[in-house]
Amino acid sequence: LSAPCAGCHGTAGASAGQAPVIGGLSKTYLKASMVNYKNDSRYSTVMSRVAKGYSDEQIDAIADYFAQQPWVNGEQEIDAALAAKGKGLHSSKGCVGCHGANGISATPTVPRLAGQYADYLVYQMRDYANADLAIPASAMPMRGILQGLSDQELEALAHFYASQQ
Ligand code: HEC
Ligand code: HEC
Repeated sequence: LSAPCAGCHGTAGASAGQAPVIGGLSKTYLKASMVNYKNDSRYSTVMSRVAKGYSDEQIDAIADYFAQQPWVNGEQEIDAALAAKGKGLHSSKGCVGCHGANGISATPTVPRLAGQYADYLVYQMRDYANADLAIPASAMPMRGILQGLSDQELEALAHFYASQQ
């Protein structure tokens, strides 16, 4: 069932960059993401169409598979000055409270940000901030905070998370 995902997310979810890394995310988060895409309660460019092709039972099995794969950090260039600025924002804007000191949370509903592709993180944060787009209730606490940040601050946060292992 997971074979078609490899075309965009890489072998076993270790993406080469055209889509986020998904191997090693928690089963809870993977399942919630697929169900939210399928129900159109999480805005996406392609995943809504992809997720509609699977039953809830199939989604459960796919989430189980990717959750058991190792996390592989994205291969990308990090801007050290931006990452340093992002580290400060991660604390001062309260992201640390849910996402952990370095973007790895022990809570299974909160996705790993450490080592994720910075470009993807920026797109996702812009979508959360955009009041015209559907986002799940779990993402709502971020909307107001992210609306108050500039593009450069979003880039800085993304580079900080991307730089973490
Ligand atoms: C055509 C390319 C493509 C295919 C095929 C694809 N994805 Fe995606 N996936 C994306 C993109 C792009 C995103 C970012 C959201 C969007 O814009 O659709 C994404 C996002 C995700 C996310 C959210 C990750 C996060 O960090 O929140 C999950 C989970 C996911 N995909 C799972 C899957 C699974 C499971 C499959 C196979 C059943 C799959 N995808 C197939 C391109 C793809
Ligand atoms: C109240 C807890 C909470 C706070 C505070 C919070 N987040 Fe989140 N964050 C979440 C949850 C839960 C999700 C997953 C949403 C979902 O279910 O789709 C998430 C998802 C994300 C994602 C998407 C990751 C992915 O793989 O798609 C990014 C990026 C992110 N948060 C950045 C931030 C930043 C930056 C801040 C601070 C400005 C922040 N978050 C504050 C709980 C929080």
